[in-house]
Amino acid sequence: MRVFSGARPTGRQHLGNYVGAIQNYVKLQREHECIYCIVDIHALTSLEGAEEVSHLKGNIREMLLDWLAAGLDPEKSILFVQSHVPEVMQLHTMLSMVTPLSWLLRVPTFKEKVHSQKENVNYGLVGYPILMTADIILYKGEIVPVGEDQLPHLELAREIVRRFNHLYGYTFPEPQAKLTTVPLIRGLDGTQKMSKSYNNQVDLASSPEETVERIMSAFTDPSRKYRRDPGHPELCNIYSLHQFFTAGRVAEVALECRSAGIGCVDCKKLLAKGINTNLEPFRERRRELESRPDYIEEVLQEGACRARAIAEVTLSEAKMRMGLT
Ligand code: AMP
Ligand code: TRP
Repeated sequence: MRVFSGARPTGRQHLGNYVGAIQNYVKLQREHECIYCIVDIHALTSLEGAEEVSHLKGNIREMLLDWLAAGLDPEKSILFVQSHVPEVMQLHTMLSMVTPLSWLLRVPTFKEKVHSQKENVNYGLVGYPILMTADIILYKGEIVPVGEDQLPHLELAREIVRRFNHLYGYTFPEPQAKLTTVPLIRGLDGTQKMSKSYNNQVDLASSPEETVERIMSAFTDPSRKYRRDPGHPELCNIYSLHQFFTAGRVAEVALECRSAGIGCVDCKKLLAKGINTNLEPFRERRRELESRPDYIEEVLQEGACRARAIAEVTLSEAKMRMGLT
C-alpha cells in the first residue's frame, strides 16, 4: 500500500507537525513506498500578492531541511513540491465535476477561513479539499499520515473517491488517515492547536535556549492557580508534550502533578530538557544539511521526476474513464 502525505510550506516545522505527522512519515518509510509533498499550490489559497508569495521558496527549503533532519530519506521516499508535477491541477479540475458544492461548503476549515481571512475568500479555498484529494489519488495513496485537524478533509476525500468510482468505474482506492499516538498538540497559549499562524509554536530547529524560553512562557492547566493546587494532566497542553518527549517519566509526571508534588515551573523545566535532549541529533543533522546548499535542489528535482512518472499514468487512466480521450 502506498503512503502519501502533504504539508503546506510554512517554513520551519514545529513540535505539533513533528509529533502529529512527521514521526509517522519517518516510521512508514520502513515498510511502504512513501510520497511526501510540499503543497505550494495549497499555500496560495492564503497568500495574496508578490511580497507574500516571495517567501515560498525559502519556506520550502526550511521545511525540507527539517524533514531530512528528522529522518526522511530521499533514497527511500519521494520528496517533491506540488507545483513541480502540474498534472495535479488537471485532476483537481476533473474531480471538481464530481464533487457537489454542498459537500465543500460544510467543511469546517472552509468555514473558519471565511472568518479568519474575510478579505480574501477566494474560490481556491472552497476547492482546497478537492486539490488535497487530487494530491493523494494521483499517486493512488492509501495510507495518509496526518494530524487530527486533517480528518474532515480525509473523510471528504473518501466520499469524492467513492463517487468517482461509482460514476466511472473503480479507479482509485479509498485513502485512510493514519494518526500518531498524540495526534493534536495544542500551542503555548493552551487553547488553540499549535500553529505558526497563531504564533504559539516551538520550532524544531530552535536553539536549546530559545526552546527553554518558549516552553517557560507556556500556559498550563488553567484550573491550577496556586502551587499547592492539584493539577489535571489531561487538561494541560504541557502534559501532552511530556507524553512524547519525556516518555520514560510520563507516569511520574502525571502523579506528581495530580498530587501537587511538582509545580508547573519545574514541570516545564523538565519538559524543555526532554525536548532538547530528544532533538539534539536532529539539530546536529540539520546543521550538516545546511552546509550543503545544492543538496535540497537535487532532492527536489529527483523527487519531481519520480512523482511525475506515476502521475502521468494515473491522469491518463482518469481521463479515459471520464471520456477525455
Ligand atoms: P500544516 O503545517 O498545517 O500543513 O500541517 C502539516 C501536518 O502537520 C498535517 O498532517 C497536520 O495535521 C499536522 N499538524 C499541524 N499542526 C499540528 C498540531 N498542532 N498537532 C498535531 N498535528 C499537527
Ligand atoms: N491540508 C493539509 C494541511 O494543511 C496539507 C495537504 C495537502 C495534505 N494535500 C495533502 C495532507 C494530501 C495529506 C494528504 O496540513
